[in-house]
Amino acid sequence: MSLEQIEIDAGRLQKQIDELALISENPPPVVTRILFSEADLRGRAFVKKLAGEAGLKVRQDAIGNIFIQWAGRNPKWPAVATGSHIDAIPNAGKFDGVVGVLGAIEAIRALQRAGVNPKRSVEVIIFTAEEPTRFGIGCVGSRLLGGTLSPENAANLKDRDGKSLETWRREVGWANEDLKSVRLAPNCYSAFVELHIEQGPLLEKENVPIGVVERIAAPSTLRLDLTGVGGHAGGTLMPGRRDALLAGAEVALAVEQAALNTGSPDTVATTGIFRIEPGAVNSVPCQAHLEIDLRDTQTRTRDAALAQIETAVRDICERRGVKQELERVAVDPPVICDRRLVNLVAQTCSTLGLPFKRMVSRAYHDSSFMAQVCPTVMIFIPCRNGWSHRPDEYASPDHIKTGVTVLAHALANLADEP
Ligand code: GLV
Ligand code: MN
Ligand code: MN
Repeated sequence: MSLEQIEIDAGRLQKQIDELALISENPPPVVTRILFSEADLRGRAFVKKLAGEAGLKVRQDAIGNIFIQWAGRNPKWPAVATGSHIDAIPNAGKFDGVVGVLGAIEAIRALQRAGVNPKRSVEVIIFTAEEPTRFGIGCVGSRLLGGTLSPENAANLKDRDGKSLETWRREVGWANEDLKSVRLAPNCYSAFVELHIEQGPLLEKENVPIGVVERIAAPSTLRLDLTGVGGHAGGTLMPGRRDALLAGAEVALAVEQAALNTGSPDTVATTGIFRIEPGAVNSVPCQAHLEIDLRDTQTRTRDAALAQIETAVRDICERRGVKQELERVAVDPPVICDRRLVNLVAQTCSTLGLPFKRMVSRAYHDSSFMAQVCPTVMIFIPCRNGWSHRPDEYASPDHIKTGVTVLAHALANLADEP
């Protein structure tokens, strides 16, 4: 094989990224592809078609994780895995996850064009529901693969309409196989490498084309239901009101304060969902539903903020006479990427003459859970202003090409390891 001949077709890749972006629940430039939506299903079909065109074998598991395989000379050896997700939160852009999926397929095509004939198979995984939109918990597919989420708990997940994951699975025709079959066997992969946009501003600011991720922050998600007492906005006098929205508003401020109180710039907290009932201008809100996202690079400060939020919820609701139900949806540990793989990607960059930065991922990724299956590392590329999870998210074709080139070289090296 000749690694010097690895040439990424950046034009075709960009066309595919643009085409996939049009498969959305909202008109362009907005990308919304929520798990089980028509757009999600069409997006999956689009990627499978691309894989078929590249002559690659495709299979899907019981939760809808898609595996695209380029068979190696020793198909029984643990394969090298790469991939990411194609689902997108409401009002998102076109690069989050997609670069790591379409980029991985293009990396394989470039390796094939260069005449690489790998010892190990290479598999691109498209993980189901990295985004938490439908069920309130992210990385459903990779959690099941790694065993962090049990099949029973997964089946019982409910969306905001009360419809369970199991019902959805039946409806879209994925229920022939049991969810138990999703869990990966130990040693099924020798390595996992995920290419992703940074979703932060550092690479762009420092004019560095590649980030090598050493650690992934510890995320946690809380769900809070508040029940107050509703009534007529004119007739209900102010003293003694039990307004669920106002309790929720105080909680949202306490969430902000808890993150600020740790004194670490790495603690970040967001109340990203806040719905009220009945939602009429002349009615006191009787119910509020909040979902809170709290992250940190260190468990100690994340846990301190978590405890503070939980205490604040109890105090605020007691003072306001509002009933509360608080659920820890997920509290995940931080991840340390595999040192050998970090060095391998760093060495790949050096060999290619590319500056790189060792860094922390403040977003979570399917890599967070693949790290429990096999040695894992991530490759980051810059995105404009660090913007992500918004329609003007942007990564330049040049940066994408560089990221896919590094991925292709890393995959070639890993797939040739004895
Ligand atoms: C992933 O999308 C995250 O929210 O970090
Ligand atoms: Mn995302
Ligand atoms: Mn992502």
